[in-house]
Amino acid sequence: MAKKKNDTMDKIVSLCKRRGFIFQSSEIYGGITSCYDYGPYGVELKKNVKEFWWKSIVQEREDIVGLDSSILMHPRIWEASGHVEGFHDPLVDCKRCKHRFRADDIENDKCPDCGGELTEERQFNLMFKTHMGPVAEDANAIYLRPETAQGIYVNAVNVLNSSRQKIPFGIAQIGKAFRNEITPGNFVFRMREFEQMEMQFFVKPGTDAEWFEFWRQRRMKWYAALGITTEKLRFHQHGEGELAHYAANAYDIEYEYPFGWHELEGIHNRTDYDLSRHQEFSGKDLRYFDDQTRERFLPYIIETSAGVDRTLLTCLVDAYEEEEVNGDVRTVLRLNPKIAPIKVGVFPLVKRDGMPDIAHKIVDILRPHMMVFYDESGAIGRRYRRLDEAGTPFCVTVDSDTLEDNTVTIRERDSMQQDRIAIDRLLETIRDQVL
Ligand code: GAP
Repeated sequence: MAKKKNDTMDKIVSLCKRRGFIFQSSEIYGGITSCYDYGPYGVELKKNVKEFWWKSIVQEREDIVGLDSSILMHPRIWEASGHVEGFHDPLVDCKRCKHRFRADDIENDKCPDCGGELTEERQFNLMFKTHMGPVAEDANAIYLRPETAQGIYVNAVNVLNSSRQKIPFGIAQIGKAFRNEITPGNFVFRMREFEQMEMQFFVKPGTDAEWFEFWRQRRMKWYAALGITTEKLRFHQHGEGELAHYAANAYDIEYEYPFGWHELEGIHNRTDYDLSRHQEFSGKDLRYFDDQTRERFLPYIIETSAGVDRTLLTCLVDAYEEEEVNGDVRTVLRLNPKIAPIKVGVFPLVKRDGMPDIAHKIVDILRPHMMVFYDESGAIGRRYRRLDEAGTPFCVTVDSDTLEDNTVTIRERDSMQQDRIAIDRLLETIRDQVL
């Protein structure tokens, strides 16, 4: 029977290292907090999650186009956006052990680590600051972007002029963001360097509530299509005190992680806040001209903002399962086959009688279309288990019957059901299910 334990996070962290999904950054130097590196399976999974998003947001829609803006941007952008002034977390330090905490995590005015006295609350800006050029002076100060959204706003006119889009339309981008989080943690849930998948939808003022509702529902459905358990997803509407400085209305899509319900994605009605600020600070006219009504206006913006790493973690947590099979514990990642890092494992049952040659030929048939893993070492059961742990949806085994009739065994990950299939039908059978 399937069982999920409270120590799921420890098991997932360990599986991620063991199978090459995610490693601690700079590990041989003792590691650096809240930064992680994606290994061979991790990069594939991450790429597939991003493609799954890009396909539904950009490729399948006529009204949204893509962008890839630079991480380093003019520093005035962050003044205009309100991040220099308003992107703060309140922090306190312990006077005794010097540990630092978010003020809103403190329960009884004492240091949670040593019980020591705490300093007064101070505002701590979450943006990483550096310098551009050889002279490290304030005039050359520049920020690593804390969200990808601003790159979209400052390019809105460029995109409009070059893409012939008309309102309502959207601009999407996937890219790195950086935040000097005071309390990072829970593996890749809260990091200091992470990736976002953001889409900004430009609408006529007055239609914003309707579009906000549209995107709120659409984004929830996307997680269901990704294969996330719907009972573990819910909305949380931001109250007055929670709203970001740019938002008039906001909902989080939350997931029930082993460490509690937390934000997975934010959907925001940013009104014309960002465009009006950039218009004011840049002195450029950023209004949209509606050639039917002959009106000029600043569009309102509905934003959908998801974390790549957080989505990937959600997929891992949701897919992780331990079940008892014939007295053994089988660990399996029941990932949606479309995001699985390796789509199919190909095994010769034994390393003789020409079986490896046939298996290599099967690899040659499948490899131009999908990620394939060839394995000829160890007992067949162990080979299946290794790929179950990596979330591989299918395994194909060449055995002595193959030599007679050109059929192979195809085993499905979740049911472990095995069927025989002709080699020349393999590609068409697997392809539609995994791509
Ligand atoms: N542009 C709006 C924006 O950035 P946000 O709610 O601050 O909104 C959006 O962030 C999403 O980015 C979050 O829902 C989360 O998935 C991801 N995210 C934010 N901070 C993160 C961090 N420190 N580590 C990993 N992901 C993070």
